Amino acid sequence: MVEKNIEGELAVLLEEGRRFFPPKSFSEKANIKDENIYEEAKNDREGFWAKFANELHWFKKWDRVLEWDPPHAKWFVGGKINVSYNCVDRHIQTGVRNKAAIIWEGEQGDQRTLTYWDLYREVNKFANVLKSLGVEKGDRIAIYMPMIPELPIAMLACARVGAVHTVVFGGFSAESLRDRINDAQAKVLIAADGGYRRGGIIPLKHDADYAIKETPSIKHVVIVERGRFPLRIKEGRDHWWHRLMQEAKPYCEPEPMDAEDMLYTLYTSGTTGKPKGIIHTTGGYLTGVYATTKLVFDLKDDDVYWCTADIGWVTGHSYVVYGPLALGATVVMYEGAPDWPDRDRFWQIVEKYGVTIFYTAPTAIRAFMKWGIEWLKKHNLSSLRLLGTVGEPINPEAWMWYHKYVGQEKCPVVDTWWQTETGMILITPLPGITPLKPGSATKPFPGVDADVLNEKGESVKIGGGYLAITSPWPAMLRGIYGDPERYIEQYWSKWNKGIYFTADGAKRDEEGYFWLLGRVDDVMSVAGHRISTMEVESALVDHPGVAESAVVGIPHEIKGQVIVAFVTIKDNHSPGKEMEDELKEHVVKKIGSIARPERIIFSADLPKTRSGKIMRRLLRDIAEGKVLGDTTTLADPGIVEKLKEKYTEE
Ligand code: WTA
Repeated sequence: MVEKNIEGELAVLLEEGRRFFPPKSFSEKANIKDENIYEEAKNDREGFWAKFANELHWFKKWDRVLEWDPPHAKWFVGGKINVSYNCVDRHIQTGVRNKAAIIWEGEQGDQRTLTYWDLYREVNKFANVLKSLGVEKGDRIAIYMPMIPELPIAMLACARVGAVHTVVFGGFSAESLRDRINDAQAKVLIAADGGYRRGGIIPLKHDADYAIKETPSIKHVVIVERGRFPLRIKEGRDHWWHRLMQEAKPYCEPEPMDAEDMLYTLYTSGTTGKPKGIIHTTGGYLTGVYATTKLVFDLKDDDVYWCTADIGWVTGHSYVVYGPLALGATVVMYEGAPDWPDRDRFWQIVEKYGVTIFYTAPTAIRAFMKWGIEWLKKHNLSSLRLLGTVGEPINPEAWMWYHKYVGQEKCPVVDTWWQTETGMILITPLPGITPLKPGSATKPFPGVDADVLNEKGESVKIGGGYLAITSPWPAMLRGIYGDPERYIEQYWSKWNKGIYFTADGAKRDEEGYFWLLGRVDDVMSVAGHRISTMEVESALVDHPGVAESAVVGIPHEIKGQVIVAFVTIKDNHSPGKEMEDELKEHVVKKIGSIARPERIIFSADLPKTRSGKIMRRLLRDIAEGKVLGDTTTLADPGIVEKLKEKYTEE
């Protein structure tokens, strides 16, 4: 399958001869000006990472930088550190104390600014609130909130007392929340009454009430009052954030955590129906996100940094919260949609706060392109000096548009490749030195060993294969919560136990540049969100009218991919618009609106191999309207013809 993906797309990418060199004015002041950093890191990888770890505060220094017993790594072994201390306490001891840590804007235009001192105070108080609710080191805490400052405050407070947070994106349904809480066995849920999105409200607490009917581990729910949204309070279990904060003491001693203690788990989709809780630990993770934020975003004291990702995803964890706050940066946070009330909302925010670094997803860039440059022209974007993208492959056309119209041809564009599992950016330009090629994430970050391997595990010097990471890196996942077997099987078994399988296809060109080509497993990327075909299939067959289903992701101009579901329904149900809508709603209820299928195609049968495996590749070809692939291994080749006719008919 990887070959299939690569061949077609490569031809286009490789014609991409354009190069963009960092403007002199940028490189002169860049945090990294010298190519030697790659060589230095290569010659002493552990020393390279230790140098960044040394810029953080440790209660006790580590004894060894790395212990690598493939596929299990320990970083900064024996070190004691607290992440919240590094993100707040450290800064209030310096002139950073009165600097804006978070500049927040609500969708309705309300605004709040928290200095580092404010953040310190709130984090300390909320840490005491957690303690008053009986939270202890190692307890798991679920968080289900919109993009409001209380979300990073809650995360940092968990880190302060040594509790493990599990943030669940507000766009996930009550059932998804329930499953994650149960998997994590979370003791406390921190939620908001709701949030604003596109002028409407998302009633988070109301949804959460459905979830916590079936989560026996939850003892307390803390609710932030965002908008006086309707909700029910269960006495004894539910508490208002602001009431608890009134009584909380101002200082909470930060827990000295072992470098390898868990910081958080974050659920992400894999190739089965059940999302996995990716485990991240403390010392290595913070070092990794700190180093990459500093070098990739070239972060300086006077920058105004805006990563538009929701904190419910890993990008928000690493590059809204932990990386930038560890550096004492000013972070912009926005609650709502990019097109509310108008399509220039992002540019309005950039202008209003003088944003200098802007990090977003290709899906958003493609939407901006479609909306047109008039929206940009209404605003002065001259404060911008660096742009970034993440989450999906960026097509050269979108890259060029971003560079030309948003960056006004003066901002380097860093295309950063990484995953929930990697915790930190692994493939990326260094903006002061790397010549850019539109559509390429360029090279591995210094100290990161990446390779393109074929099926047999041989390195493909020039050409396509699978992207692999061949040595451990500090922010790497340490496991899957409650499932050590799956950790090994999924990530470390394709070749040998020391090589990490990314499940991404990649191609390396003559100059050693990496071109990412999308997933080679059954994980879809819909508007940059990871969703597994199996998850959507399980949601569909959960409906009483569905006998069988097969789900594929097909290319989409803006969202990258959209979901098409082939469904066989039971005899007592009839196909049609009504059933289609019902099934789409069912998926939304089971997973969340991000997983809503774009189309549902009813079929009396699905194409299978003789061993009974559904042939997704064929379905994808049908859904994309391509000529049929090889059908000779089909149990009943006639099915495909029928399906194809049906699809083109509809
Ligand atoms: C994809 C998001 C191409 C990739 C940080 C990966 C990318 C998945 C890029 C992880 C990029 C991420 N170019 N593809 N710059 N960045 N991806 O876990 O397929 O939500 O495996 O982490 O996104 O998605 P996740």
